[in-house]
Amino acid sequence: MKKVPIGVLVSGSGSNLQSLIDRIEEGSLDARIRIVISNNPDAFALKRCEKHGIPAAVIRHADYPDRESFDRKMAEVLHAHDVDLVVMAGFMRILSSWFLREFPLRIMNIHPALLPAFPGLHVQRQAILHGAKFSGCTVHFADEGVDTGPIIIQAVVPVLDSDTEETLAARILKEEHRIYPQAIQLYAEGRLRVTGRRVSVPDNPTPGAAAIHNPPLTGF
Ligand code: GRF
Repeated sequence: MKKVPIGVLVSGSGSNLQSLIDRIEEGSLDARIRIVISNNPDAFALKRCEKHGIPAAVIRHADYPDRESFDRKMAEVLHAHDVDLVVMAGFMRILSSWFLREFPLRIMNIHPALLPAFPGLHVQRQAILHGAKFSGCTVHFADEGVDTGPIIIQAVVPVLDSDTEETLAARILKEEHRIYPQAIQLYAEGRLRVTGRRVSVPDNPTPGAAAIHNPPLTGF
């Protein structure tokens, strides 16, 4: 199968990037990482690229007078590498309208909450403080809002009474590493249909219809 050329935008640790690298190397994800762009020269993600021989570029946002000129530079680099899909993986910058128009429905983001609940930052802490019984993660297409674009796939995890921000974040991150490769594989296979806000996957097997409860039901 033809491999979809992707560009990955990172700012930090890059564990989601690593999950894509691993799935590509084992042959289960039909993508090729043409370029990784980091706005942060110290991002650990860059070390991962070195280790796996993946081309990487640092574009410091502070070197540009405004958001759009930074984004134009990123687009120039992405186009130079013939990128089809832009994958935001822990990229801590908001994209300009110009950039979004440049890659319509071709930018994905991952967010560590069950959108539309808890957009923005520190969302694992917010889920705990709010007393949510479930949280999870979401892969969505990027649009003009913050964490608001059409939802592609979600995973649900329970929030435990004993959870700290760290333990919940770790449980969610484990699922992020599963759903991001899945979302990109569906894109690679041309199986994502977008109608307004709704993204569907024709011929998708129906997910288990059973509800999950937290706390568990005691015989009801
Ligand atoms: C992840 O939780 C992701 O959902 C959020 O930032 C974190 C990045 O982690 N957008 P990593 O850099 O992929 O390890």
